Amino acid sequence: MQSLRVLPIARTLTNVLLTRRIPSSVLTKLESQCQVDLYPGGAIPHSELVLRIAGKQALLCLLTDRVDAEVMDASPSLAIIANIAVGYDNIDVAAARQRGIAVTNTPDVLTEATAEFTWALILGIARRVAEADRAVRSGAWTGWALDYMLGTELRGKQLGIIGAGRIGRAVAAKAPAFGMRVVFSQHPSAAAAGVDTLPLDQLLVTSDVITIHAPLTAGMRHLLDKRTFARMKRSALLVNTARGAIIDEAGLAWALQERLIAGAALDVYEDEPRVHPDLVTLDNVLLAPHIGSATRETRTAMADLAVRNVLAVLGGSEPLTPVP
Ligand code: DGY
Repeated sequence: MQSLRVLPIARTLTNVLLTRRIPSSVLTKLESQCQVDLYPGGAIPHSELVLRIAGKQALLCLLTDRVDAEVMDASPSLAIIANIAVGYDNIDVAAARQRGIAVTNTPDVLTEATAEFTWALILGIARRVAEADRAVRSGAWTGWALDYMLGTELRGKQLGIIGAGRIGRAVAAKAPAFGMRVVFSQHPSAAAAGVDTLPLDQLLVTSDVITIHAPLTAGMRHLLDKRTFARMKRSALLVNTARGAIIDEAGLAWALQERLIAGAALDVYEDEPRVHPDLVTLDNVLLAPHIGSATRETRTAMADLAVRNVLAVLGGSEPLTPVP
């Protein structure tokens, strides 16, 4: 258990920096108890974050905000960094721990939305939905034909899931509806979940659809690269709704161009919002703008959980969902 900074009990006002607008019902709840400095623009520049955090006790931030030691040291009274995301690779958690600052994320509330979107991508790339839409809009479609825009069926195929956390397991739970069998990559979390596993290399070699649901930790960067794409089935489809840097994007573009794998559906990128220019030119890749959790219900629930974490810590309680 980390020892957290204790705020002075006699405070009259707690100052919170909120880096992006959140649903008004949640903002009202926060404003009823705190003095809120809401950054009015889009993504807050790092230099602005360092300036604005001064004098704040809480930071409510997004995955687009890099929260490093410089940010933390700019506010000696900072007690909590509440990320409005389940992933927290944008935060230097070790630096926060050293300073006794609580770090929280938003697990659970986005599991179903992200799992549903993963299936949208799996179906979308297997049945070429985005490509078909482009063909109709551009006038390239000249009429029904027996061999036009053929996709691939999911029934009877193997879904390989990298990551046996909440989202990976929620994706797996929907697989029987499509007649797919599921294997997870070997990992202590998969062993704890009691699911069928294969060593990663075996999963890559045998799966028809591979989907990533793991956090971006140091060891996960470029887990999938040219070497691993070459190991996959030529008919394989790759889906990523986790973090872009788990895939070597340039290597993926090469593998798709060379038809080493059949297709990919991506919601996340190595250097968002930039997308590797070669990917944009390819028909066998479906590109989404990091919207895995983007439903009204879920985004409101994420903001609400982050606010409840802030209010808990500022009120002297333990955070509800500290990062592990
Ligand atoms: C997260 O929460 O980490 C997702 O990437 C956005 O919902």
